[in-house]
Amino acid sequence: MNQDQLQAKTVSHSRTTITELMIPSYANFGGKIHGGILLSLMDKVAYACAAKHAGTYCVTVSVDNVEFRQPVEVGELVSLHASVNYVGKTSLVIGIKVVAENIKDGIVKHTNTSYFTMVAKDDDNRPTEVPLLILENDEDIRRFLESIDRKELKNSYKELLTHAKNRMEIEESIHLLDKERCILKRS
Ligand SMILES: CC(C)(COP(=O)(O)OP(=O)(O)OC[C@H]1O[C@@H](n2cnc3c(N)ncnc32)[C@H](O)[C@@H]1OP(=O)(O)O)[C@@H](O)C(=O)NCCC(=O)NCCS
Repeated sequence: MNQDQLQAKTVSHSRTTITELMIPSYANFGGKIHGGILLSLMDKVAYACAAKHAGTYCVTVSVDNVEFRQPVEVGELVSLHASVNYVGKTSLVIGIKVVAENIKDGIVKHTNTSYFTMVAKDDDNRPTEVPLLILENDEDIRRFLESIDRKELKNSYKELLTHAKNRMEIEESIHLLDKERCILKRS
């Protein structure tokens, strides 16, 4: 990628919103919208935002903090607001805020905020450098700093998990199941 394409870009340059009406075919048997529909929309908006900043094709590497706090109903208008929170060398963290609006009463629910890590790819499918991010206000700075914290926490958590897995011996740990809602039936 040449220098012109790598010119730094502001957060507002790639800020993206997708709004979609929740139609009956998106609903589950309970009449609420499938979580998978929302995840797919989140992936779309994350891609649009990341690709706009990177100026290249991008892929989703990981998704953090997906926790639907309130159900989304058929007939609601869902808006997904995405912006670049952080850039590394080839990766970008896209923050996505999802809100659902009831058209009749105008009530707006914040259903979740999630973070998608995307990686920019070149024409040979190799990770490629992304433009620097211009932080223009305190909000941009706060989000960038929070992403650094989240990245460090995630790395520590991964290490802890690997360590815990490595030292996990079934016979030593089986007593932990005593207070869990499971039945041991091994032969
Ligand atoms: C993610 C992927 C690009 C990493 O490739 P790689 O050759 O290991 O590249 P690198 O080790 O140089 O990592 C590239 C960047 O990804 C980041 N990365 C890699 N794995 C990561 C993970 N699990 N979580 C967050 N970031 C990750 C690295 O930190 C690095 O970021 P940086 O350049 O900003 O420092 C590669 O594994 C891939 O293409 N995966 C498939 C992604 C995909 O197809 N998604 C669609 C879902 S089907």
